[in-house]
Amino acid sequence: MSPAPALVVIPTYQERATLPGTLARLRAAVPAAHALVVDDASPDGTGDWAEAAAAEDPYVHVLHRAGKEGLGPAYLAGFAWGLERGYEVLVEMDADASHRPEQLPGLLEAVRRGADLAIGSRWVPGGRVHDWPLRRLVLSRGANLYVRAALGLRVADATAGFRAYRSGLLTELVGQDVASQGYCFQVDMTRRARAAGAVIREVPIDFDERTEGASKMSSAIVREALVKVTSWGLARRAQQLLGLLH
Ligand code: GDD
Ligand code: MN
Repeated sequence: MSPAPALVVIPTYQERATLPGTLARLRAAVPAAHALVVDDASPDGTGDWAEAAAAEDPYVHVLHRAGKEGLGPAYLAGFAWGLERGYEVLVEMDADASHRPEQLPGLLEAVRRGADLAIGSRWVPGGRVHDWPLRRLVLSRGANLYVRAALGLRVADATAGFRAYRSGLLTELVGQDVASQGYCFQVDMTRRARAAGAVIREVPIDFDERTEGASKMSSAIVREALVKVTSWGLARRAQQLLGLLH
Protein backbone atom coordinates (compact mmCIF):
# COMPACT_ATOMS: atom_id res chain seq x y z
CA MET A 1 0.00 0.00 0.00
CA SER A 2 1.34 3.45 -0.81
CA PRO A 3 1.73 5.79 2.16
CA ALA A 4 -1.16 8.11 2.96
CA PRO A 5 -0.51 11.48 1.30
CA ALA A 6 0.11 14.72 3.10
CA LEU A 7 -2.78 17.05 3.90
CA VAL A 8 -2.12 20.77 3.53
CA VAL A 9 -4.47 22.71 5.81
CA ILE A 10 -5.07 26.27 4.58
CA PRO A 11 -7.04 28.56 6.91
CA THR A 12 -8.84 31.36 5.12
CA TYR A 13 -10.59 34.54 6.06
CA GLN A 14 -11.27 36.96 3.21
CA GLU A 15 -8.81 35.33 0.80
CA ARG A 16 -10.91 35.25 -2.38
CA ALA A 17 -8.18 37.15 -4.22
CA THR A 18 -5.27 34.98 -3.09
CA LEU A 19 -6.53 31.41 -2.57
CA PRO A 20 -7.00 30.43 -6.25
CA GLY A 21 -3.40 31.21 -7.17
CA THR A 22 -1.99 29.55 -4.07
CA LEU A 23 -4.04 26.40 -4.57
CA ALA A 24 -3.02 26.16 -8.24
CA ARG A 25 0.64 26.50 -7.28
CA LEU A 26 0.25 23.87 -4.58
CA ARG A 27 -1.43 21.38 -6.92
CA ALA A 28 1.35 21.92 -9.48
CA ALA A 29 4.24 21.79 -6.99
CA VAL A 30 3.11 18.74 -4.99
CA PRO A 31 0.45 16.92 -7.02
CA ALA A 32 0.16 14.06 -4.50
CA ALA A 33 -0.76 16.35 -1.60
CA HIS A 34 -4.37 16.90 -0.61
CA ALA A 35 -5.57 20.36 0.43
CA LEU A 36 -8.13 21.30 3.06
CA VAL A 37 -9.38 24.89 3.06
CA VAL A 38 -10.77 25.89 6.46
CA ASP A 39 -12.91 28.95 5.87
CA ASP A 40 -14.51 31.01 8.63
CA ALA A 41 -17.55 32.09 6.59
CA SER A 42 -15.59 34.80 4.74
CA PRO A 43 -18.04 37.46 3.50
CA ASP A 44 -16.03 37.81 0.27
CA GLY A 45 -17.07 34.34 -0.94
CA THR A 46 -13.77 32.50 -0.34
CA GLY A 47 -15.71 29.50 0.99
CA ASP A 48 -18.02 29.35 -2.05
CA TRP A 49 -15.04 29.51 -4.38
CA ALA A 50 -13.32 26.71 -2.44
CA GLU A 51 -16.52 24.66 -2.59
CA ALA A 52 -16.56 24.93 -6.39
CA ALA A 53 -12.86 24.04 -6.55
CA ALA A 54 -13.49 20.96 -4.39
CA ALA A 55 -16.32 19.85 -6.67
CA GLU A 56 -13.88 19.81 -9.59
CA ASP A 57 -10.82 18.35 -7.89
CA PRO A 58 -10.98 15.28 -5.62
CA TYR A 59 -7.74 16.37 -3.92
CA VAL A 60 -9.31 19.60 -2.65
CA HIS A 61 -11.58 19.65 0.41
CA VAL A 62 -13.34 22.39 2.35
CA LEU A 63 -14.38 22.81 5.93
CA HIS A 64 -16.83 25.64 6.58
CA ARG A 65 -16.95 27.22 10.00
CA ALA A 66 -19.71 29.45 11.31
CA GLY A 67 -17.67 32.61 11.84
CA LYS A 68 -14.25 34.13 12.42
CA GLU A 69 -12.81 32.49 15.49
CA GLY A 70 -9.11 32.90 14.89
CA LEU A 71 -6.23 30.94 13.42
CA GLY A 72 -5.91 28.45 16.30
CA PRO A 73 -9.45 27.06 16.27
CA ALA A 74 -9.40 26.90 12.45
CA TYR A 75 -6.23 24.81 12.48
CA LEU A 76 -7.50 22.56 15.28
CA ALA A 77 -10.66 21.83 13.28
CA GLY A 78 -8.59 21.14 10.16
CA PHE A 79 -6.20 18.86 12.04
CA ALA A 80 -9.07 16.88 13.56
CA TRP A 81 -10.54 16.42 10.07
CA GLY A 82 -7.21 15.18 8.71
CA LEU A 83 -6.26 12.95 11.63
CA GLU A 84 -9.67 11.24 11.45
CA ARG A 85 -8.94 10.40 7.84
CA GLY A 86 -5.51 8.93 8.48
CA TYR A 87 -3.16 11.45 6.87
CA GLU A 88 0.38 10.80 8.08
CA VAL A 89 1.72 14.30 7.56
CA LEU A 90 -0.30 17.46 8.20
CA VAL A 91 0.91 20.78 6.86
CA GLU A 92 0.08 24.37 7.81
CA MET A 93 0.24 26.94 5.05
CA ASP A 94 -1.14 30.48 4.57
CA ALA A 95 -3.57 31.13 1.73
CA ASP A 96 -1.95 34.38 0.62
CA ALA A 97 1.13 32.82 -1.07
CA SER A 98 3.45 34.20 1.59
CA HIS A 99 4.57 30.59 1.83
CA ARG A 100 5.81 29.23 -1.48
CA PRO A 101 4.14 25.90 -2.29
CA GLU A 102 7.29 25.12 -4.31
CA GLN A 103 9.18 24.94 -1.00
CA LEU A 104 6.83 22.40 0.57
CA PRO A 105 8.91 19.42 -0.64
CA GLY A 106 11.74 20.62 1.62
CA LEU A 107 9.48 20.38 4.67
CA LEU A 108 8.11 16.98 3.65
CA GLU A 109 11.66 15.74 3.12
CA ALA A 110 12.66 16.83 6.64
CA VAL A 111 9.75 14.81 8.07
CA ARG A 112 10.63 11.86 5.88
CA ARG A 113 14.14 11.99 7.31
CA GLY A 114 12.93 11.81 10.88
CA ALA A 115 11.62 15.20 12.02
CA ASP A 116 8.32 15.15 13.92
CA LEU A 117 7.91 18.85 13.17
CA ALA A 118 9.54 20.67 10.26
CA ILE A 119 9.30 24.46 10.47
CA GLY A 120 9.71 26.64 7.40
CA SER A 121 11.91 29.25 8.99
CA ARG A 122 12.59 32.85 8.06
CA TRP A 123 15.21 33.31 10.73
CA VAL A 124 17.78 30.58 10.11
CA PRO A 125 20.68 30.99 7.65
CA GLY A 126 19.26 30.84 4.12
CA GLY A 127 15.82 31.99 5.27
CA ARG A 128 14.54 35.26 3.78
CA VAL A 129 11.67 37.71 4.01
CA HIS A 130 10.81 39.64 0.85
CA ASP A 131 9.06 43.04 0.89
CA TRP A 132 7.89 43.10 4.47
CA PRO A 133 7.41 46.56 5.95
CA LEU A 134 9.93 47.43 8.66
CA ARG A 135 7.29 47.29 11.39
CA ARG A 136 6.44 43.65 10.56
CA LEU A 137 10.12 42.72 10.49
CA VAL A 138 10.64 44.31 13.88
CA LEU A 139 7.52 42.64 15.28
CA SER A 140 8.50 39.17 14.07
CA ARG A 141 12.13 39.51 15.16
CA GLY A 142 11.10 40.97 18.52
CA ALA A 143 8.46 38.30 19.11
CA ASN A 144 10.95 35.54 18.37
CA LEU A 145 13.61 37.06 20.64
CA TYR A 146 11.08 37.39 23.44
CA VAL A 147 9.83 33.83 22.93
CA ARG A 148 13.39 32.57 23.01
CA ALA A 149 14.21 34.39 26.23
CA ALA A 150 10.95 33.50 27.97
CA LEU A 151 10.53 29.91 26.82
CA GLY A 152 14.01 28.73 25.84
CA LEU A 153 12.66 26.82 22.85
CA ARG A 154 15.85 26.74 20.75
CA VAL A 155 13.79 27.56 17.66
CA ALA A 156 14.62 30.65 15.58
CA ASP A 157 11.14 31.10 14.04
CA ALA A 158 8.61 29.92 16.61
CA THR A 159 5.79 32.04 15.12
CA ALA A 160 6.20 30.54 11.64
CA GLY A 161 3.04 29.42 9.86
CA PHE A 162 4.54 27.05 7.27
CA ARG A 163 5.09 23.70 8.95
CA ALA A 164 4.74 19.96 8.57
CA TYR A 165 3.76 17.73 11.49
CA ARG A 166 4.03 13.99 11.71
CA SER A 167 0.56 12.71 12.66
CA GLY A 168 1.77 10.94 15.83
CA LEU A 169 3.07 14.18 17.32
CA LEU A 170 0.02 16.14 16.21
CA THR A 171 -2.37 13.62 17.77
CA GLU A 172 -0.54 14.05 21.06
CA LEU A 173 -0.60 17.85 20.89
CA VAL A 174 -4.23 18.33 19.91
CA GLY A 175 -5.22 16.15 22.84
CA GLN A 176 -3.83 18.82 25.18
CA ASP A 177 -6.52 21.47 25.23
CA VAL A 178 -4.69 24.06 23.11
CA ALA A 179 -6.56 27.30 23.71
CA SER A 180 -4.56 29.91 21.77
CA GLN A 181 -6.73 31.80 19.32
CA GLY A 182 -4.50 34.05 17.28
CA TYR A 183 -1.01 33.70 15.85
CA CYS A 184 0.43 32.71 19.25
CA PHE A 185 -1.12 29.34 18.39
CA GLN A 186 2.10 28.74 16.47
CA VAL A 187 4.26 29.44 19.52
CA ASP A 188 1.96 27.34 21.67
CA MET A 189 2.29 24.34 19.36
CA THR A 190 6.07 24.79 19.19
CA ARG A 191 6.48 24.80 22.95
CA ARG A 192 4.20 21.76 23.29
CA ALA A 193 6.20 19.93 20.62
CA ARG A 194 9.40 20.73 22.51
CA ALA A 195 7.89 19.57 25.81
CA ALA A 196 6.78 16.33 24.14
CA GLY A 197 10.40 15.65 23.19
CA ALA A 198 9.69 15.97 19.47
CA VAL A 199 12.45 16.15 16.87
CA ILE A 200 12.11 19.70 15.49
CA ARG A 201 13.94 20.82 12.36
CA GLU A 202 13.98 24.28 10.85
CA VAL A 203 14.19 24.46 7.08
CA PRO A 204 15.04 27.88 5.57
CA ILE A 205 12.27 29.37 3.43
CA ASP A 206 11.51 32.51 1.46
CA PHE A 207 8.57 34.44 2.88
CA ASP A 208 6.92 36.73 0.34
CA GLU A 209 4.71 39.62 1.46
CA ARG A 210 1.21 39.16 0.07
CA THR A 211 0.42 41.16 -3.06
CA GLU A 212 -3.38 41.10 -2.65
CA GLY A 213 -5.86 41.22 0.20
CA ALA A 214 -4.91 42.26 3.71
CA SER A 215 -3.21 40.74 6.74
CA LYS A 216 -5.49 39.80 9.64
CA MET A 217 -2.84 40.68 12.17
CA SER A 218 -4.34 42.98 14.83
CA SER A 219 -3.46 44.56 18.13
CA ALA A 220 -5.67 41.96 19.87
CA ILE A 221 -3.54 39.22 18.34
CA VAL A 222 -0.33 40.89 19.51
CA ARG A 223 -1.81 41.42 22.98
CA GLU A 224 -2.88 37.80 23.33
CA ALA A 225 0.60 36.65 22.29
CA LEU A 226 2.31 38.95 24.78
CA VAL A 227 0.09 37.86 27.68
CA LYS A 228 0.30 34.16 26.87
CA VAL A 229 4.04 34.00 26.19
CA THR A 230 4.69 35.92 29.41
CA SER A 231 2.53 33.58 31.47
CA TRP A 232 4.04 30.45 29.89
CA GLY A 233 7.47 31.90 30.64
CA LEU A 234 6.58 32.59 34.27
CA ALA A 235 5.16 29.09 34.68
CA ARG A 236 8.35 27.68 33.24
CA ARG A 237 10.51 29.68 35.66
CA ALA A 238 8.34 28.56 38.58
CA GLN A 239 8.77 24.95 37.49
CA GLN A 240 12.54 25.43 37.33
CA LEU A 241 12.55 26.93 40.85
CA LEU A 242 10.46 24.07 42.20
CA GLY A 243 12.90 21.67 40.57
CA LEU A 244 15.76 23.33 42.41
CA LEU A 245 13.98 23.04 45.75
CA HIS A 246 13.34 19.33 45.40
N1 GDD B 1 -10.06 30.43 9.10
C1 GDD B 1 -9.36 31.50 9.53
N2 GDD B 1 -9.80 32.17 10.62
N3 GDD B 1 -8.24 31.87 8.88
C2 GDD B 1 -7.55 32.93 9.34
C3 GDD B 1 -7.95 33.68 10.46
C4 GDD B 1 -9.15 33.27 11.13
O1 GDD B 1 -9.59 33.85 12.12
N4 GDD B 1 -7.04 34.67 10.67
C5 GDD B 1 -6.11 34.54 9.70
N5 GDD B 1 -6.42 33.51 8.88
C6 GDD B 1 -5.68 33.01 7.71
C7 GDD B 1 -5.50 34.02 6.60
O2 GDD B 1 -6.61 34.07 5.74
C8 GDD B 1 -4.23 33.49 5.93
O3 GDD B 1 -4.50 32.43 5.06
C9 GDD B 1 -3.43 32.96 7.12
O4 GDD B 1 -4.37 32.69 8.15
C10 GDD B 1 -2.38 33.96 7.65
O5 GDD B 1 -3.01 35.18 7.93
P1 GDD B 1 -2.35 36.59 7.55
O6 GDD B 1 -3.22 37.64 8.09
O7 GDD B 1 -1.97 36.65 6.12
O8 GDD B 1 -1.04 36.53 8.43
P2 GDD B 1 0.26 37.45 8.35
O9 GDD B 1 0.88 37.39 7.01
O10 GDD B 1 -0.05 38.75 8.93
O11 GDD B 1 1.09 36.59 9.39
C11 GDD B 1 2.31 35.98 9.25
O12 GDD B 1 2.78 35.98 10.57
C12 GDD B 1 2.10 35.14 11.49
C13 GDD B 1 2.75 35.33 12.81
O13 GDD B 1 4.12 35.14 12.67
C14 GDD B 1 2.33 34.54 8.77
O14 GDD B 1 3.67 34.11 8.69
C15 GDD B 1 1.61 33.58 9.70
O15 GDD B 1 1.77 32.27 9.21
C16 GDD B 1 2.21 33.70 11.06
O16 GDD B 1 1.55 32.87 12.01
MN1 MN C 1 -0.08 36.81 5.25
